[in-house]
Amino acid sequence: MLVNGKEMLMNAKHNHKAIFHFNINNLEWTKWILEKCNELNEPVILGVSENAISYMGGYNVIVSVVKSLINDLNISIPVCLHLDHGKSVESCKKAIDAGFTSVMIDLSKLSLEDNINETKKVVLYAKEKEVSVEAEIGSMGSINNNNFDLGNKTNLSDCLKFVNETNVDSIAPAVGTIHGIYKGELNIDYKLIENISNSIEIPLVLHGGSGLSNDILKKCIKSGITKININSDLQYEWSLGVREYLNNNKEVIDPRKIISSGEDKFKKMLENKININKQ
Ligand code: G3H
Ligand code: ZN
Repeated sequence: MLVNGKEMLMNAKHNHKAIFHFNINNLEWTKWILEKCNELNEPVILGVSENAISYMGGYNVIVSVVKSLINDLNISIPVCLHLDHGKSVESCKKAIDAGFTSVMIDLSKLSLEDNINETKKVVLYAKEKEVSVEAEIGSMGSINNNNFDLGNKTNLSDCLKFVNETNVDSIAPAVGTIHGIYKGELNIDYKLIENISNSIEIPLVLHGGSGLSNDILKKCIKSGITKININSDLQYEWSLGVREYLNNNKEVIDPRKIISSGEDKFKKMLENKININKQ
């Protein structure tokens, strides 16, 4: 069942659990995530970046693929289809028109005022179609090869102002995590998560969930995080499986065999993350 993110996130928030957002990049990843989450009976958010949307062929392709898989695989868990890091009001509108059930508008590089003003336009458009909206406050860092930037953490008053003025359904406050697998120790501001969580009703989202131990993720949930975004951990595990397979099977040319050789490791990582809720 394709649903927006509101109810699943509010339920999780009240039960002090996390909903996982896993990024999809192709048909196979989408299928594996749906299969594993359905097997574990856990609702899931499928996150799709603008780059992944172009790669897969467009907004309508994604919606058709996800709906068809839900149907053909008899998926019975709630599934939310979410635009990840939408960079403009226009791309959010395109996703909504195509049938995405949730969008993130990420204008965190703008001033707070401009971020608020643009986000309001997305909320206005989304509410009419019952699509949920997430926005980022402060800015997330990222790591690419060995270059990394730590981003800019947000603060409570910006979050309060943002939520009051925009009426978004969830916020992703920058609290010290970064996108990608960072090997050192990050300075995550648990107190800030706690303060924001105690002061606002809507769920909080943690971006950059990869490279963090399950204990750290559990501490984030305990502090008030409800949605955890994971992308790079899945990419890493999948690529390990594929590399190993190709090294041992130099003659193979069947793309189905090559892509699927990462499935086991991919699904193990997925299960390992989802089981955090059971520990
Ligand atoms: O929006 C997507 C996530 O924040 C993924 O970050 O690659 O560090 O898991 P990650
Ligand atoms: Zn992110």
